[in-house]
Amino acid sequence: MKVFITREISQEGIKLMQNAGISFTQWTEKRELEQEELISICKNYDALISVGQDKIDKHFLNESKHLKLIAQMAVGYDNIDIPEATKLKIPIGNTPGVLSKATADTAFLLMLAVSRKALYMHKKIIKGEWGFYEPTANLGIEVDNKTLGIFGLGKIGFEMAKKCAKAFDMKIIYHNRSNNIEAEKELGAKKVTFDELLAQSDVLSVHTALTAETKNIFDYDKFSKMKSSSIFINTARGGIHNETDLIKALNEKKIWGAGLDVTNPEPMASGNPLLSMPNVAILPHIGSATEETRGAMSRLAAENIIAASKGERLPHLVNAEVYNK
Ligand code: DGY
Repeated sequence: MKVFITREISQEGIKLMQNAGISFTQWTEKRELEQEELISICKNYDALISVGQDKIDKHFLNESKHLKLIAQMAVGYDNIDIPEATKLKIPIGNTPGVLSKATADTAFLLMLAVSRKALYMHKKIIKGEWGFYEPTANLGIEVDNKTLGIFGLGKIGFEMAKKCAKAFDMKIIYHNRSNNIEAEKELGAKKVTFDELLAQSDVLSVHTALTAETKNIFDYDKFSKMKSSSIFINTARGGIHNETDLIKALNEKKIWGAGLDVTNPEPMASGNPLLSMPNVAILPHIGSATEETRGAMSRLAAENIIAASKGERLPHLVNAEVYNK
């Protein structure tokens, strides 16, 4: 089994593959591979470890039908045409579970950074603008005892809800297709309609996958239905909110602030108006970026590669139908 990895990954996964006698190459250049380059490289490999930035669409898959698997080193896989991979019998792996806490930490960090204008204040100090003390200047808002609305209460949303309930006694509401019984029992979380979520949340945090249904779902109309004192947080995918509408909603004070770890496009342009707004905090998609979590993600990707090298079913599998006869 010869594996191509589109990035340098953590030692945990590397060691596992070395111990299993898997031969692999990591792409070490600090630039995105063009799709045609990746297709041509993959001709010499049996398997691919990819990340969310790689475009694994119909064209790529049909040019790379020989791949025994694609082990995506991320929980999200909106960059991969899953139905096409399934049709071509290519198993797709991902890394669920291990990044829930780190990603929820990032949502929590953004919530506080926005509510206290932390990143904006930091920029002011750098610019030499730490002026004289004014009791009515630099005021943020508090989240204690407020309502946290979760859009998509899965594993990551649950971790965020737990942190907010425990640290700030926040009341938890959520909007999902199905009930999250564990969150209802443990946190008293209440399932509400989308309109209720928009109307009642003081902090609205997005934790859903990017799909045709969720693409651009947070647009001007939705922001207009939120409280003018509310904070919008997105650590899931930039495509879920409409960035032009978000800027308009912030300028018109339809909502109070926003914290984004994901933008559309990524990287965000350095002149984006969001970067100079006081009540906004932007991070460069670092939700899962901790030593521990990136180590665990590389381990799960390696486990998928090792299983496939033995002709076994992937332990962390997205498209189970691929094994149907
Ligand atoms: C994921 O796992 O989907 C993250 O966005 C990658 O860090």
